[in-house]
Amino acid sequence: MSQDRKVAIITGSSSGIGYETSIALARSGIFTYATMRNLQKATNLESIRDKEMLPLKTLQLDVTDDASVNEAIQTIISESGRIDVLVNNAGYGLVGAFEDLSMDEIRRQFETNFFGVIRVMQSVLPLMRKQKFGILVNISSGAGRFGYPSGSAYVSTKFALEGLSESIAYELDQFGIKVILVEPGVIKTNFDSGMVVAKKSQDASSPYFNMTKKMDTVFRQLILNSSPPSLVADVVVQAVKSENPNLRYLAGKDVEQWVEQKKKMSDTEFFNMMKQSFQ
Ligand SMILES: NC(=O)c1ccc[n+]([C@@H]2O[C@H](COP(=O)([O-])OP(=O)(O)OC[C@H]3O[C@@H](n4cnc5c(N)ncnc54)[C@H](OP(=O)(O)O)[C@@H]3O)[C@@H](O)[C@H]2O)c1
Repeated sequence: MSQDRKVAIITGSSSGIGYETSIALARSGIFTYATMRNLQKATNLESIRDKEMLPLKTLQLDVTDDASVNEAIQTIISESGRIDVLVNNAGYGLVGAFEDLSMDEIRRQFETNFFGVIRVMQSVLPLMRKQKFGILVNISSGAGRFGYPSGSAYVSTKFALEGLSESIAYELDQFGIKVILVEPGVIKTNFDSGMVVAKKSQDASSPYFNMTKKMDTVFRQLILNSSPPSLVADVVVQAVKSENPNLRYLAGKDVEQWVEQKKKMSDTEFFNMMKQSFQ
């Protein structure tokens, strides 16, 4: 590998946004470590890599496992000696009314979507600081800008990610490290099949059973007309290649509209508008 070729690592590359972003980063000339917790899912990515002769390598990394994260980062450091870009993408959605969520279900949600991001960032930051260069891209969501019923745990992880990213951007600026939040709207990926429905919300005796079912239908309808993951991948590449990246990038017409409405409306107006669209 050429010494001056930039190096990126991305989590959750087995499908969806992570898969497309790995390919897009490699196609843009960046040597890309496409990581995933189960390497048996690497076949498609590796065959595109081989066909297009892309600068891409697959590596095992489970964001919930300290040893797995450390081993992956150490492998990259010893092979490449540098990490220029980290894309924190791995995540899933926990669905269910707040009262139906068990502490374990909420903890697992945070372990992947929030603590997982912390674990990987803390593992690459010493090197980025030494390099005096680095770009951290955190895949947030429209759910990092507004809440909705059945999404309290997932939305909380993304709001937490937004607050964390915004705060560390100040701390890391002095070391030449940029922080970028990418906020996709609804994207056609395996996200719906990976969704975990809270145990109690699946029980017809839950007072929230009908609401959870309704939200499931609304979400599945939104997915039918949603954007492809390549749209998010293009936003990530554009942000990473920019000399002066923004802190936030929206990805998708739907999320642009929602955020615009939230800016224009009072909290009560926005609440009533959202409530109507869920009925
Ligand atoms: N799709 C949307 O509408 C949407 C909208 C806004 C934001 N997002 C965000 O985009 C990101 C990617 O989601 P997606 O839509 O591309 O869904 P996806 O197709 O289900 O991809 C999720 C990826 O995360 C991986 N993952 C889950 N737990 C992991 C762990 N512990 N360690 C490592 N990898 C793990 C999955 O691996 P496995 O294959 O092993 O399960 C998969 O590769 C998530 O952070 C999600 O919150 C999605």
